[in-house]
Amino acid sequence: MRKNIVAGNWKMNTTLQEGLELAKGLDAALKGKAINCDVVIGTPFTHLASIAAAIDTNKIGVAAENCADKNSGAYTGEVSAAMVASTGAKYVILGHSERRAYYNETAEILKEKVLLALANGLTPIFCIGEVLEEREAGTHFEVVDAQIAGSLFDLSAEDFGKLVLAYEPVWAIGTGKTATADQAQEIHAHIRQTIAGKYGQTVADDCSILYGGSCNASNAKELFANPDVDGGLIGGASLAVDKFMPIIEAF
Ligand code: G3H
Repeated sequence: MRKNIVAGNWKMNTTLQEGLELAKGLDAALKGKAINCDVVIGTPFTHLASIAAAIDTNKIGVAAENCADKNSGAYTGEVSAAMVASTGAKYVILGHSERRAYYNETAEILKEKVLLALANGLTPIFCIGEVLEEREAGTHFEVVDAQIAGSLFDLSAEDFGKLVLAYEPVWAIGTGKTATADQAQEIHAHIRQTIAGKYGQTVADDCSILYGGSCNASNAKELFANPDVDGGLIGGASLAVDKFMPIIEAF
């Protein structure tokens, strides 16, 4: 049975102090509330340990926004999956379109990151999605299929079953232009079919596929009502408790 998940991705926002305040505020807002989804917050590396220590991580999972494609050693400035896991974080966002575009993360690099994340007990939230030109050219289905196959299809069915996927059309990220509920459902169903083609229907049915891209309090309910949309990966609207909570409560 797949889970509904609402995950925040703070990106490169908040100082440690601001981040702690935000995480504690969310923790307090969730207290005593009956919530119908898992809640995750993706924070900068510098915040992970302090936030994991300050909140109830059984209620709010903590995610890194990246990890290295190497285990350890002379890679100045990199942060390994083992280091992330040692902070108390349980998840890692991998393959975000910003990392693919600005830091040249290829399918091969992401394949290594996924393997290391899994080997260190982290749940990867693996992002896929097309750019506007690809959507306009009608190649979005092939684009996401290639992203999935290129980084994930060497995994065993058991390991694939540990992943969370996030479909984020790049043209919807931070633009205020969200995919319609129908567009989201159409491509999420397609992604599930692609997974079923490789690993079988049970693995596909058990995989949580989140939508990301200008998801907010006003559109979350409609997006999440789709049978193949299992939650959201939320950027801007995860940076304030009063904007994030209504998305969590949309389930
Ligand atoms: O990871 C989150 C996505 O990039 C969505 O960002 O909600 O600010 O559009 P956004």
